[in-house]
Amino acid sequence: MKVGLMPSRMSSAQSRSVAARSSDCAARVLRTVTAGLKGQVRFKAPLKEWTSFRVGGPADVLVIPHDVEDLCCLLRQARAAKVRLFVIGGTNVLVRDGGIRGIVVSLSKLKAIADEPNAVVYAEAGVTMPVLLQHSISRSLSGLEWAAGIPGTVAGCVVMNAGTRLGEMKDAVKAVRIASPSGTLKDVPASAIPFSYRHARVPRGIVTGVWLQLIPGVKDHIQTVVKDYLRYRKDTQPLTMPNAGCAFKNPKPDAAGRLIEAAGLKGFRIGDAQVSEKHANFIVNRGDARADDVMALIAHVRRTVQSKAGVKLELELKIVGEP
Ligand code: EPU
Repeated sequence: MKVGLMPSRMSSAQSRSVAARSSDCAARVLRTVTAGLKGQVRFKAPLKEWTSFRVGGPADVLVIPHDVEDLCCLLRQARAAKVRLFVIGGTNVLVRDGGIRGIVVSLSKLKAIADEPNAVVYAEAGVTMPVLLQHSISRSLSGLEWAAGIPGTVAGCVVMNAGTRLGEMKDAVKAVRIASPSGTLKDVPASAIPFSYRHARVPRGIVTGVWLQLIPGVKDHIQTVVKDYLRYRKDTQPLTMPNAGCAFKNPKPDAAGRLIEAAGLKGFRIGDAQVSEKHANFIVNRGDARADDVMALIAHVRRTVQSKAGVKLELELKIVGEP
């Protein structure tokens, strides 16, 4: 679906009328694609509320499928109309100020967790890591302690192979269930998914659930590791301010936070976007940051670290949407 295509030689009144017609047409297509779904469909939905950064413009449409079947129905209707879907997890993303055209999908209603034999746990895509971690602690299962304090969803953590210095997602994933673009479900073993640093090449489609292979352990011990790690994060990271996690990947063997601090950028601010005073690899929103402020800050940090340390920082957070 192409939105807002305009011939170049027109009066501004003609352009406005073509733009209005084209946007009416786009709105009609979006209404058709979302017709008959059981879940929520919200037009012009502000995405600020859906991101941990609290930054960003609206989605043309935000769909919150009621269940996996509803998601498959959306996929089939979207394919028929050639409309792309964008899945928002919301914790490592910067949505630009113009928002996202087309359909944004939140899997926040897919929240079931099931215990399977041999210390395997199945979690639907929208289960958050804190909930999953609490579940595994309650079953005395070890293997997710590294994720203490990560706020994202289990599917988001698979797709970006989230990790900390204690471990990463690929160590626990046994298989994933994917809704393909044609709206059918298939299960893919972890061995068929190439994982790399903060990335997983998951087959096309939308991850709807994840099987995790955990390890029977001792509840007190698991709890102590988690508590210590949460304390470390609380002491070193700006967890009380809106942020999107670490802004840059670590340029191994160095750490982005160390390089940014050494470049004198701790506390540096553009508008309400600021390099955290607590941990230099976090950008925090001091209240009313615009995505443009965050982008300008990212560019400044990259330029400065490149000129002072000769290191090109690569973004960990994903930038999406329109200016
Ligand atoms: N450092 C500084 N100044 C700072 C921040 C850090 O000099 O402002 C130094 C620290 O002293 C340390 C080194 O940089 O020597 C590494 O810092 P830290 O232990 O805080 O870990 P990190 O490498 O910055 C990684 C993950 C975090 C995760 C922590 C804790 C990445 C990009 N970051 O951070 O993950 O929480 O380890 O395990 O891998 C995230 O992915 O969003 C994230 C925050």
